[in-house]
Amino acid sequence: MSVSRCREGRRFAGLVFFFCLGLGSGPLMAGDSPTYHRDVARILQKNCQECHRPGQVAPFSLLDYEQARKRADDIVDVTEERTMPPWHASTTEGGPFRGARVLSDRDRKVLSDWADAGAPEGDSKDAPPPVSWPSDWAMGTPDLVLKVNQPFELGASGPDEYRVFVLPSGLTEGRWIAAADFRPGNRKVVHHILAAYDTTGNARKLDAADPRSGYASSGGGYGRLPSGFPFLPAGQLWGWAPGRRVFQSPEGMARALPAGADVLLQVHYHKSGKPESDASEIGLYFARGPVDKQIRSAIVMPPRTGLFGKPKLHIPAGEAKHEVRGSRTIQQDSHLLAVFPHMHLLGRDFLLTAVRPDGSRQVLIRIDDWDFNWQNPYEFVSPVPLPRGTKVELVAHFDNSAANPSNPSRPPRDVNWGEETTDEMCIGFMQVTLDDEHLGGRSPDSIKKPVRDQRRNALED
Ligand code: HEC
Repeated sequence: MSVSRCREGRRFAGLVFFFCLGLGSGPLMAGDSPTYHRDVARILQKNCQECHRPGQVAPFSLLDYEQARKRADDIVDVTEERTMPPWHASTTEGGPFRGARVLSDRDRKVLSDWADAGAPEGDSKDAPPPVSWPSDWAMGTPDLVLKVNQPFELGASGPDEYRVFVLPSGLTEGRWIAAADFRPGNRKVVHHILAAYDTTGNARKLDAADPRSGYASSGGGYGRLPSGFPFLPAGQLWGWAPGRRVFQSPEGMARALPAGADVLLQVHYHKSGKPESDASEIGLYFARGPVDKQIRSAIVMPPRTGLFGKPKLHIPAGEAKHEVRGSRTIQQDSHLLAVFPHMHLLGRDFLLTAVRPDGSRQVLIRIDDWDFNWQNPYEFVSPVPLPRGTKVELVAHFDNSAANPSNPSRPPRDVNWGEETTDEMCIGFMQVTLDDEHLGGRSPDSIKKPVRDQRRNALED
């Protein structure tokens, strides 16, 4: 049923309902239909207000009766079509994931019965208490907020830009970081943010050599050293993309931020047609209790060509279902906390499967309708064991045909691996812990080896 027919049908049902009420002989009593205060507000609070309130990603608020009533039909359409709340991972294969944004059939029916009944307000004394959002930081005031101090001025048009901002943490002792939240300064142009940290001073040097705020990193990395080699940060600190929620580390697990580290924000800008300026922020939450395990990063992607070569990815123009595969063998007993699939506009579907040494297979995540605008880390409800020798397999498809409305090139052109939104990528980022690591509450400063070196040994193929 098309959207408009569906809407008409509902209005008609509402009319019939009022007609019956008017006659006083209808089978339905007003008390039978859901009301906003008694039934609907609760559903919107739990599933929608995270984004549908001022300053968040959604274009309008759903905080009070009037806002919901005006859009009652639209609310039913988007929830029946499953486009809202946005959640692209399969709910039958992979996961289960924490905070999955999925409405129950029951809640969906409450919304449609309510709209059918003419969206009645009901009695405000039945209303649930309003949710208090402590500040615009989703988890309340962070322990440490770092902000780009000099706004970056972005031109009106041209290719995407990647900029790295160097924010001294000022920490005199290392901290375990349980979560990071982000406040993009200008949502019109901030496409996504990745955070990492540096302990070598190299990022500061790159910053000093670039006259504008931050420094340019062509290709979305963290820039190049004077030697020509890519500059690699010492560790990662999560990231932000529209609709992304804060990753909450399980108890006893965290990422290290050593004393004196500089936090790096790598911001991907997509120009808006007007000159814009941006100064984004990161908020860090320290771990509350003792930390026993570091959270490490690992990736699965197509095989690289040559030592520092790019991953192999070539999507011929016009191909509607181009398959890409990659895999990685886990070298040490590990647990997987979260996965973050990443492709660009031509991505179509994405599947990550663990194949254990005993031959058993477990789907980790399956996304059947990739949407570039909704990229999320997906956190497992309970960490998934990946015993040594497990192979994590990636299979993804790309649609480079003219029929793909998301295809940025008209007519389609051959597409290769690259950082521009019009290039493509295919990465499964994974957050893992090592089973035999027991830090026993030690400070991050007492850990000699940078995370990256350990990760190389532990997880690289
Ligand atoms: C994670 C953030 C997020 C959540 C949660 C969310 N929305 Fe949205 N919603 C958006 C954004 C962003 C848009 C703008 C369109 C887009 O980008 O998809 C939107 C658009 C809409 C629209 C307009 C769609 C159109 O085509 O005009 C409706 C209606 C809507 N949301 C209802 C809901 C309802 C009802 C819920 C809860 C059941 C919900 N949303 C939960 C982010 C969210």
